[in-house]
Amino acid sequence: MKALILSGGKGTRLRPLTYTGAKQLVPVANKPILWYGIEGIVAAGITDIGIIISPETGEEVKSWTGKGDRFGAKITYILQDTPAGLAHAVKIAQPFLGNSPFIMYLGDNLIQNPLSPFLEQFTQKQLDGLILLRPVENPTSFGVAVVGDNGRVLQLVEKPQNPPSNLALVGVYFFDNTIHEAIANIQPSARGELEITDAIQQLINTDKQVDACTLDGWWLDTGKKDDLLSANQIILDERSTYNVEGDVDPQSQIIGRVKIGRGTKLINCTVRGPVIIGENCHLENSFIGPYTSIADAVNLIDAEIEHSVILSEAKIVNINHRIVDTLIGRRAQLTTAPQRPKALRFMLGDDSQVELT
Ligand code: DAU
Repeated sequence: MKALILSGGKGTRLRPLTYTGAKQLVPVANKPILWYGIEGIVAAGITDIGIIISPETGEEVKSWTGKGDRFGAKITYILQDTPAGLAHAVKIAQPFLGNSPFIMYLGDNLIQNPLSPFLEQFTQKQLDGLILLRPVENPTSFGVAVVGDNGRVLQLVEKPQNPPSNLALVGVYFFDNTIHEAIANIQPSARGELEITDAIQQLINTDKQVDACTLDGWWLDTGKKDDLLSANQIILDERSTYNVEGDVDPQSQIIGRVKIGRGTKLINCTVRGPVIIGENCHLENSFIGPYTSIADAVNLIDAEIEHSVILSEAKIVNINHRIVDTLIGRRAQLTTAPQRPKALRFMLGDDSQVELT
């Protein structure tokens, strides 16, 4: 069994944050989204992993993620010249996949369930395909499935205007080698992509056995700011521990599950967990409230923040209104003059600067 993680594509939905970086590397609780996928795959016993990368962000994905040693895996990078669709990614990965069955995992998806039970079902029932589904309120934004009483998939449509059900395709799929022939027999869709949903429909049309499982745990497709903030909240809630390695002065108060990295200094701050703060940050006269992730080398002075994600090297100084539900990109700067407006809500990309005067 191998795994193929798709970490190419354009990442337009998290713009401007992803103008300069890969959306799969945006951190959730200070860890890139992509790494959760890798860890989940390794936990299911699969260590031979191919990662699809794009010319724009591939080098960044490679240099952050490495050859796989940190995960106990062997990673092979596969360059996809253009984001021509999920099935196109499988097509160009065929030399890596060979005839092996594989898990296909979309690199911007996070799921709570472990993969092993699905893998077991796929293997034991000798399925040609197994897809994961979750009921959603907005099926038009996803691939949508119709499933028979026996769990067999009957029909799949990609982002339909009139969805035949509310069951969205989660970005985790299990395939045997029959998927390659199916992909060879489909044409690009109206949006010009080789769709994996069409390839799976092709499997169904040729009497291959494709089953579906419904997820009972949470699933986050972290393409948008609010999804990312909820992913951050859930992961902090579930996995935070108390671990203070930084330097906290006696005037500061740390309450609950708070992680503070090495080289970080806190002066006269209150931190109420669950919170994670990276390395080499400077935090002074500030309140850091629940569900906040602060990456490395961030400066936060005279500010209050909660339920937010701050990327590395950002600088937030003298904001006397509480910052909430906010995503701040790398090296972004946020400062205010004494006269201030009443409410603030931001989505700030890398290198942006805001001054409220
Ligand atoms: O998240 C679940 C949804 O993912 C499914 O419900 C849909 O059926 C499926 O088509 C997919 O839709 P998205 O619109 O979310 O796909 P997106 O373009 O965001 O691509 C998903 C991942 O695959 C992302 O990490 C980028 C990567 N990718 C995408 C394309 C089109 C590639 O590596 N190569 C590509 O050519």
